[in-house]
Amino acid sequence: MDTNNEPIQNQDQNSDIDGFSNERLISDHEYDGIQELDNDMPPWWKYLFYITIILAIVYFLGVHVFGFIDHQNEKYEKEMANAKLSVSELDIINAKTAVVLKDEGSLADGKETFDKICSVCHGKFGEGLIGPNFTDEYWIHGGSMEDLFTVVIEGVPAKGMISYKTQLSGEKIQNALSYILNLQETDPPNQKAAEGELWIAPEEEISSEADSLENVGDEEAVESTTE
Ligand code: HEC
Repeated sequence: MDTNNEPIQNQDQNSDIDGFSNERLISDHEYDGIQELDNDMPPWWKYLFYITIILAIVYFLGVHVFGFIDHQNEKYEKEMANAKLSVSELDIINAKTAVVLKDEGSLADGKETFDKICSVCHGKFGEGLIGPNFTDEYWIHGGSMEDLFTVVIEGVPAKGMISYKTQLSGEKIQNALSYILNLQETDPPNQKAAEGELWIAPEEEISSEADSLENVGDEEAVESTTE
C-alpha cells in the first residue's frame, strides 16, 4: 500500500496544474512552497526579441563582413575630420585674413549671395536702399576689407544690419564683399546719398606688408614699422 500511496501523493504535490487557478505550473521550480505559473511570453515580446536577433545579424554583417555600416571608430574619424574642416575654414578666412578677390568664380559666388540676401537692403545694384550705397567711396564703418568683414560678422543691430556670422561661411562673406567692392566703379541709377566718410585706402606699401604677414601676433610689427 505504501508503494501505491507515494506516487499518488507525488502527483498531488508536484502536479503541473495549479489547483487554485487551474493553470500550468513550472515543474521542479519551487522555493519555500511557492511555485510559478508556466505562462507563455506575450507574442509582441517574442517578436521584439526575434527582431533584435535579426538586427544583430544585419549589424554584424554590415560592420564586420561587408562594411556597409560604419564602425564606430570610422564614424568618429569622419566627424573629427569634418569638425577640423569647419574650424580651419574659419581660421583661414576671417576679418584679419580676408582679401579682395578678382577672379570670376569668386565674384560670381559673391554676386549670388548678394542677390539672394544683401540686395534686399542694399539695392539690386548696390545703389543703397535701407542700407547704405556700396557704389560710392563713402563708408560708415571704414572701407577696408577688414572693416566690411567685421560689419558683416558683427552686424549693426541698432541700424538694421544683422550679423551673418552663423549664416555665411568666411569664404561666402569674402566673396560677397569682393563683389561689393567690385561695384565701386559702377554708377547705377537711383543711388542713395553718401553716408559716412570718404574712404582713402592706406598706402600700397603698408597693405602689401600686412598681406605678407600670416600671424595675427605679428600685427605689432607692422604698426611699429609704419610709425
Ligand atoms: C535687413 C537689411 C540688410 C540686409 C539684408 C543687409 N544689410 Fe548690410 N547694412 C544694413 C544697414 C541698415 C546698414 C547700415 C548700418 C549703419 O548705419 O551702421 C548696413 C551696413 C552694411 C555695411 C557697412 C557699410 C558702411 O558704410 O560701412 C556692409 C559692408 C554691409 N552692410 C554688408 C552687407 C552684406 C554683405 C549683406 C548680405 C550678406 C548685407 N549687408 C545685408 C542693412 C542690411
